[in-house]
Amino acid sequence: CGIVGYIGKRDVAPLLLEGLQRLEYRGYDSAGVVVTSPKAAGLKMVKAKGRVRDLEARVPKRFAGTTGIAHTRWATHGAPSDENAHPHMDAEGKVAVVHNGIIDNASDLRAKLTAEGVEFLSETDTEVLTHLIARNDADTLEEKVRQSLKLIEGTYGVAVLHADFPDRIVVARNGSPVVLGIGEKEMFVASDVAALVSHTRQVVTLDDGEMATIKADDFRTYTTSGTRTTAEPTTVEWEAESYDMGGHDTYMHKEISEQPDAVDRVLRGRIDERFATVRLGGLNLDAREARTIRRIKILGCGTSYHAGLIGAGLIESLARVPADAEPASEFRYRNPVVDPDTLYIAVSQSGETYDVLAAVQELKRKGARVLGVVNVVGSAIAREADGGMYVHAGPEVCVVSTKCFTNTVVAFALLALHLGRIRDLSVSDGKRIIEGLRRLPEQIQQILQAEAEIKKLADQYADAKSMMFIGRVRGYPVALEASLKLKEISYIHAEAYPASELKHGPLALIEPALPTVAIVPDDDLLEKNRAALEEIKARSGRILAVAHQEQEKADHTVVVPKNEPELDPILMGIPLQLLAYHTALSLGRDIDKPRNLAKSVTVE
Ligand code: G6P
Repeated sequence: CGIVGYIGKRDVAPLLLEGLQRLEYRGYDSAGVVVTSPKAAGLKMVKAKGRVRDLEARVPKRFAGTTGIAHTRWATHGAPSDENAHPHMDAEGKVAVVHNGIIDNASDLRAKLTAEGVEFLSETDTEVLTHLIARNDADTLEEKVRQSLKLIEGTYGVAVLHADFPDRIVVARNGSPVVLGIGEKEMFVASDVAALVSHTRQVVTLDDGEMATIKADDFRTYTTSGTRTTAEPTTVEWEAESYDMGGHDTYMHKEISEQPDAVDRVLRGRIDERFATVRLGGLNLDAREARTIRRIKILGCGTSYHAGLIGAGLIESLARVPADAEPASEFRYRNPVVDPDTLYIAVSQSGETYDVLAAVQELKRKGARVLGVVNVVGSAIAREADGGMYVHAGPEVCVVSTKCFTNTVVAFALLALHLGRIRDLSVSDGKRIIEGLRRLPEQIQQILQAEAEIKKLADQYADAKSMMFIGRVRGYPVALEASLKLKEISYIHAEAYPASELKHGPLALIEPALPTVAIVPDDDLLEKNRAALEEIKARSGRILAVAHQEQEKADHTVVVPKNEPELDPILMGIPLQLLAYHTALSLGRDIDKPRNLAKSVTVE
């Protein structure tokens, strides 16, 4: 979900709508806006099920105000509808609240309030907070919000507007991001810097347990128990233009095309030619400590989990440290054994995914050392971790991840090389990997040039109801990620299997109507992979291979350039991003905003 708010002198509704457009990738099933001004009598609100443009169509011509808050939603409690859209107001129309997160004790509070005669207008958990604030009799808005939040269990990023205090917006954070944007005689608030950067790059990120009051020419931060905190604004490094579509039809296409530059950025300044290694300043892990690590456990969700799987493979082969990856969402609920000799690594593009954050917090509670591999600077997971690496992919707006995935895998290659070189990786292997890394941007560019060819293939396979993706060892996570990408944006059912497991079950599915995408690198498993293709062909299955050379058994082969075997998975994933993209395009899907999904899932 996305929050945006403004207080200043400008006409607020267009500003908030523009902010919502920029946040739409975080949720897009309903949206709403409420405005007021210092002299206005009361708050004015408009809400709509659907996209921000549906809301825009409903905003009346005369909707003047200089202060306001707005929201774009990804439904958790209550289906998408006008009523369930935020902001939520009390019956008198005095208080308006926008909220990201989940109030765990909402149903208890709702029952209590209903017994006291409060009438609820929506099914959301957020509405209880509105009524608590409206019914609180403290003198200041800050105190009303503070006392109400005390009654709430759960996570929140909230912004509150009150008709009796039209000179301020009060915000609070606990588990869901809130960023203040500091302007000239105007202030902004948002759940994501994406909504701020076209107005100001001076920001203050609230910590969990922190609140703030913003007025047109002033802001102050304090804890939920009322103690003042100091907050120095920092400058956001991402430019406003990097959030634009830059001549592409979709953000996904733009982000796929940016990969050569993005990979260049994650490598920049980190390679140490002299010692055939890399410098990773932010790890906070000296060589002696690093040598005592007995295992590495990588945690992430969705695409980041898949990047972690490739990362684990890189670490095992280059650093010879046992490593594996697991979905953070599973890990945190199975009471895992937390081992002091294991290094834990949390992977997250946004740095906000709640399941990953909660896993990090659980690990830290149990004394583990946790690193973060994150794209968004200063995000919750980056702050919570003991150290880590930024992947420097730049802002990623399309809901499904492409360039962040690639950059995360490259970041893991750097980490693996670093750990390898302080353990027992040779100088020549170090050099070999460095040279391979340096070749990546150009090789990715080369793959992107085959887009027209991949588009043709996508058109041929787009009629499939289901697709199989197979790979072995290093190729298997590539298959997993490619199948996820296809599912997410084309809605074609897809599943990924280790090629070696085909004969243990899924071979029963093979028939002409179920095409298989096979990852076939020229490595020591080439013959084994070819055998799998034979098995499929013998059952009349159609095969699309991604390989280093034409595959005789395949109906089509996309040939990709060869790098070092350890780094090949990075390149083999790229044509499959384009395959998913063009399949979704030919099916007329909403590629940047696939149904039912959101860019960052900041709830459980
Ligand atoms: C959501 C997105 C996925 C993404 C996952 C993890 O489910 O729809 O595309 O891979 O979150 O996001 P993160 O920001 O933690 O990498």
